[in-house]
Amino acid sequence: MAQFGIYVHWPFCESKCPYCDFNSHVGKAIDHEAWRRAYRVELCRYAIETSHRTVTSIFFGGGTPSLMEPRTLAEIINIIKELWPISKDLEVTLEANPSSTEVETFDSFRRAGVNRLSLGVQSLEDATLLFLGRRHSAAEAIEAAKTVAQIFERYSIDLIYAWPGQTIDRWRHELDRGLDLAKDHIAVYQLTIEPGTQFYKEKISTADEALSEELFRITQEILGAAGMPAYEISNHARPRQECSHNLVYWRGEDYVGLGPGAHGRLTKTGSSGLPETEAIQEIRAPDRWLKVVQAKGVGTQKRKKLPFEHRFDEIVLMGLRLSEGISTERFVRLTGRRLFDYLKPDRLDGLCKSGFLSRSCTNLRLTPHGLSRLDAVIRELLV
Ligand SMILES: C[S@@+](CC[C@H](N)C(=O)[O-])C[C@H]1O[C@@H](n2cnc3c(N)ncnc32)[C@H](O)[C@@H]1O
Ligand code: SF4
Repeated sequence: MAQFGIYVHWPFCESKCPYCDFNSHVGKAIDHEAWRRAYRVELCRYAIETSHRTVTSIFFGGGTPSLMEPRTLAEIINIIKELWPISKDLEVTLEANPSSTEVETFDSFRRAGVNRLSLGVQSLEDATLLFLGRRHSAAEAIEAAKTVAQIFERYSIDLIYAWPGQTIDRWRHELDRGLDLAKDHIAVYQLTIEPGTQFYKEKISTADEALSEELFRITQEILGAAGMPAYEISNHARPRQECSHNLVYWRGEDYVGLGPGAHGRLTKTGSSGLPETEAIQEIRAPDRWLKVVQAKGVGTQKRKKLPFEHRFDEIVLMGLRLSEGISTERFVRLTGRRLFDYLKPDRLDGLCKSGFLSRSCTNLRLTPHGLSRLDAVIRELLV
C-alpha cells in the first residue's frame, strides 16, 4: 500500500548545539496560540489537495518539538484525523530532548495521540555530551529513557559517533549501554560537520575515514548481534519496528511538510499520463513563516515539478540507504518507468560483479560490503 506522511516542524530549541545544521533556533517569547493557528491554516490548505490520501504517519520533528505545548500536538493530530482518512496503524512520532522532558509532559503527549517517541540521547558519556554542547548529563539521558519506556510502547534513542578522539573500546562500551536503554529501535549517526555550524567555524573535525569505517563495522556487528540490524544506513530496529514515517522518505513516497523550512513531495498524474512529483518547500525563517501564514494563509517558499532525472536520482539515493533497497514495482508506481531502463548497464554490472550491489527482478540493493561504501557506490552509479 502507498504510504503518505505528514511532517510538522517545530523550529525552536533551548540552545543551539554546535554540530547542529537543522532549522533550529533559540526562541524568545513564543506565542503558542499563534503557532497553533498557523499550523491549522496550513493543514486545511494541504487537505484541499490531498484529502483523498490515507495518512499512515505523522512526525513532529525539529528543533525540539517536545517543547511544544501538548495542546498544540493534540490539536494538530485531531485536525488531521478530521481532514484525512487515517490508516488503522497510524504512527505518530515526537522527537524529544532529554533536557526538556518531564514525566507529566510525556504523559500529556501520549494522551494527545503520540504513540512513538524518538529521544536524542546522543551520548552516554558526560565528557562527550559536554563536547557536543548538550544541556543534559548521561544520568539525565538514562532517566529520560526510562521514563519514556514506562509511557510509550514504541520508542527510539539517537546516538552520535565518529567524533574526534573516539576509540573503538569506548564506542563498544557506549553501544552496549545504549542497547540496555533501547527496546526495539536505535538510530546511530556518524557526526557530520556542515558549513555554518559552530563546529565548522572552530575547524573541529570528525574521526578520520579509517576509524569511522571501523566504528561503522563494529556498530553493524554489535547491533546486528543484538537483533537490531540496520534497515537504513543509520537506523536499526527489530523486525516490524522500523520508523514508518522515515520509510516514507527513503522509499520515495509522498508527504506533506508543515512549518518553517519543511519539505514535501506530492505526486499526481501529469498531462503525459505519467506520475509527476512536485517538490514543495516552506519559508525557512520561523518569524517570516508565521507572519506570511498569518497574512496570506500559505507558508510556501518554492513549489516546482521535479524533472524525471532529478526524481530518479532522489529515489536511487534514498532507496539505496535501505537494506531492502529499491523495489522495482514501487519505482514503476512512483514514476511510471522501469528502474533498470535508466541505469547504465556497464556500471551496474561492474558494481554487482565487485560485490557492492545486488540486483534481482524485484529490487536493487547494496550488499553489506556496498553499504559501508555508500557514497562511492552512488557516485559510480549516478555519474
Ligand atoms: C532533528 S535532530 C534533533 C532532535 C532533538 N532536538 C535533539 O537534539 O535531541 C535529530 C537527530 O539528528 C542527529 N544529528 C543532528 N545533527 C547531527 C550531526 N551534525 N551529525 C550527526 N548526527 C546529527 C542527532 O542524533 C539528533 O538526535
Ligand atoms: S541538535 Fe536538537 S537540540 Fe540541538 S540545536 Fe539541533 S535540533 Fe536543537
